Amino acid sequence: MSKTIGILTSGGDCAGLNAAIRAVVFRAHQLGWKVLGIETGTAGLFDSPPKVRELKPKDFSGNVMRLGGTILGTTNNRNPFEYPMDDGSVKDRSEELIAAAKGLGIEALIGVGGDGSFDILTRLATQGGINFVGIPKTIDNDVGLTDVSIGFDTAVAVATEALDRLQPTAASHDRVMILEVMGRDAGHIALTAGIAGGADVILVPEVSYTIEKIAEKIKSLKTSGRNFALIIVSEAVKGPDGEAREVVFHGGETRYGGIGHYLGPKIAEATGSETRVTVLGHVQRGGSPTYNDRLLASALGVKAAELVNDGKFGRMVAWQNRQAVDVSIADAIKDCHTVEPQGALVKTARALGISFGD
Ligand code: F6P
Repeated sequence: MSKTIGILTSGGDCAGLNAAIRAVVFRAHQLGWKVLGIETGTAGLFDSPPKVRELKPKDFSGNVMRLGGTILGTTNNRNPFEYPMDDGSVKDRSEELIAAAKGLGIEALIGVGGDGSFDILTRLATQGGINFVGIPKTIDNDVGLTDVSIGFDTAVAVATEALDRLQPTAASHDRVMILEVMGRDAGHIALTAGIAGGADVILVPEVSYTIEKIAEKIKSLKTSGRNFALIIVSEAVKGPDGEAREVVFHGGETRYGGIGHYLGPKIAEATGSETRVTVLGHVQRGGSPTYNDRLLASALGVKAAELVNDGKFGRMVAWQNRQAVDVSIADAIKDCHTVEPQGALVKTARALGISFGD
């Protein structure tokens, strides 16, 4: 009888998740394993019976690897250790979840997630004695010990295209365009897309800025004959008052957002330039994955199935120096992998004359 791997996607979705699931299923079947897909992340295990379905290679014979989102569904606000109950209270439901996972008869669990999900899943695995392997995904690219996470490349491609589309309209109207991008506490999307998309100013949470320095850069562009400017700003950049801009949703949940609109009038006033703001939002997470994300997801999915087959657990598959390797998952999530202010890409940007507002 073949042994079974459970797989779930957890946290915010991104492009490339389906390609990763496909790779796990293909390689696991080659190695003689069955794969059980757990739906809506850990939340699917709270249902009775748990929301699971067997995944077979034939389920992926069509266009699934080309699709954005996740065929399994996901959740990013149902921490089982602090589960929000209907009456407004919070309850530790970890034991319930562990019992449900064990009831599936799986020998191992593969979680495709970011640092927040890995923190929860590894705690569950340790508490419940579950064999766990992680595959890193997040547009924020803030998981440690991997050069890149699934979904980042597609998000950067979308943000770069947004700058490409903003540039002609900015030039037609003599405007300063501000593009606000996601990334949570890491400025990787803004930095990478800012270089690739020809931004004049890149604002990331890792480098502090002043409005005066941004205005100086824009005025110098004007003096040199340029009639427009492009600014890309990470959502977690704080206002000059030191406050993070946040959006509060129904129910009290908060997310970063609003720094673009906060800066717009201030930059307009300081430069005398007409200024417009675009907030890219979840567009960065959807859509068909780039070829880089498909390749990465394929390599990491294959490696994850092989780790399970080799009985190597508590590991995260990672991309280092153009190959799939495995690292300690605890080490990978120890620190948030943010932009290195003295790092190579920041130096490249500065060498191109891009200002960080500092
Ligand atoms: O972590 C991925 C991410 O897209 C962040 O960049 C962003 O801050 C957050 O998730 C948005 O979360 P939600 O999908 O819950 O609005």
